[in-house]
Amino acid sequence: MSYVRKEISIDEIKKQEEICLQIKEILCAEGKQPMALVDTYGCQQNEADSEKLRGYLQLMGCGFTDDEFLADIILVNTCAVREHAEMRVLGNVGSLNHTKKNKPDQIISVCGCMVQQQHMADKVKKSYPVVDLVFGPHELWRFPELLLKHIQSHKRVFSRCESDGVIAEGIPRNRDSKVKAWLSIMNGCNNFCTYCIVPYTRGRERSRRPEDVVAEARELVAAGYKEITLLGQNVNSYGKDLNCGVDFADLIRMINDIPGEFLIRFMTSHPKDATEKLFKTMAECEKCAHQIHLPVQSGNDHILKRMNRCYDREKYMQQVEMARSYMPDLVLTTDIIVGFPGETDEEFEDTIKLCQDVRFDSMFTFIYSKRQGTPAATMPDPFTREQKQVHFDKLMAVSNAISAEKHKAYEGKTYKVLVDGETGKDEYNLSSRTNGGRLVHLKGDPALIGKFINVKITSSNTWALYGEIDNG
Ligand code: SAH
Ligand code: SF4
Ligand code: F3S
Repeated sequence: MSYVRKEISIDEIKKQEEICLQIKEILCAEGKQPMALVDTYGCQQNEADSEKLRGYLQLMGCGFTDDEFLADIILVNTCAVREHAEMRVLGNVGSLNHTKKNKPDQIISVCGCMVQQQHMADKVKKSYPVVDLVFGPHELWRFPELLLKHIQSHKRVFSRCESDGVIAEGIPRNRDSKVKAWLSIMNGCNNFCTYCIVPYTRGRERSRRPEDVVAEARELVAAGYKEITLLGQNVNSYGKDLNCGVDFADLIRMINDIPGEFLIRFMTSHPKDATEKLFKTMAECEKCAHQIHLPVQSGNDHILKRMNRCYDREKYMQQVEMARSYMPDLVLTTDIIVGFPGETDEEFEDTIKLCQDVRFDSMFTFIYSKRQGTPAATMPDPFTREQKQVHFDKLMAVSNAISAEKHKAYEGKTYKVLVDGETGKDEYNLSSRTNGGRLVHLKGDPALIGKFINVKITSSNTWALYGEIDNG
């Protein structure tokens, strides 16, 4: 698919950084540090984008707060994938009326996928006068410039770039964790699944150059990060647009070659593009986690076709089998949509059957949400929300039972885990993840955060494992 790749030069990013310093002078004029709040919805790509927004805000001299009444600048980084996500955003933005009343100079900005849709940008403009600045994902790199425009003009700024191929290197980052890092390897999506808004909000697939990705991975390892998650809407098509001879499996190998003790994870993989080479590479690269999130969406061929997923049940099952033959300990997770327009009881039962056949370690299940402008939005959708809910509940019960059984099998065994944070609870104060990404709660010294340790699993439920440090 053709698109215009628009690389933002390092000079342009430098210019944005200079604008940050200009804003710092304005905001810090009264000798008080301005506070910022970045509220993030949606996927890990959005989390990674928010780290860039916070990187810019930090250069502007901002500190960070979770309290919207204390914030001088509020940025709401939105998601459009389901109506529920948009409703939550609009509800929260609406409630900022109160905070701005208390603090009339407060700057409120809404960015991200939701406002890349013209109708939502228009809605915010018309119905949410409290919002000062709106920009879509393609303009994140020039957030400082847009913010300065608002600060200097005191006018509302709405900027929505139609370009579908922006790619920017070198934006400063303020990362959330010191242990786990997001590493975005590509932007956009070319798949146009008929239900999905992402290709419209994020533009066409464009890969970062392998040398840029590897350089960032090296920096992360040097900075002490122990887990790097490679991000893209469809990481399996990495590199196709660059024609540089490096595909996703090659990229994993290049990162695996970086010296140091760390884990490589990635998401999301599209089943139509997962290859034997990828599974083989995962098995051979000792730093690559044996974990794959492979969204199947439905177990029925007719629905898969109408979703434009470009694979059928048989191809999916073959891939699962192949992946497991290379990695018998593979942790496999998936996404499922229940209630796609016109999905019958029989078609839904095929999904249940597939889940029972595959036995996913865990599943993310969603009720279909109509997205304006997507092909599925015009398909007849005769079934009620209540009927879909019945299917959803049934699928959840099946999924939860399988997860609980799979977790039970961990009990009594010892696994190497990466301790990644504190839980805030007394009994099990630390959280950690197995190589396959399963959550393990344990009790221990917070100094263990960022370390790989052995843990014996003592109990489990549907959602998590519980264990004790095994020094033996
Ligand atoms: N690129 C990823 C998914 C990104 S969106 C992939 O293709 O695997 C994450 C999940 O949200 C999807 O896998 C899908 O299950 C769900 N989703 C996307 N659009 C949806 C919609 N309109 N209604 C309900 N769920 C949806
Ligand atoms: Fe959406 Fe499909 Fe692209 Fe995933 S692959 S982001 S579901 S269009
Ligand atoms: Fe949502 Fe955009 Fe991610 S729509 S799921 S934030 S790509």
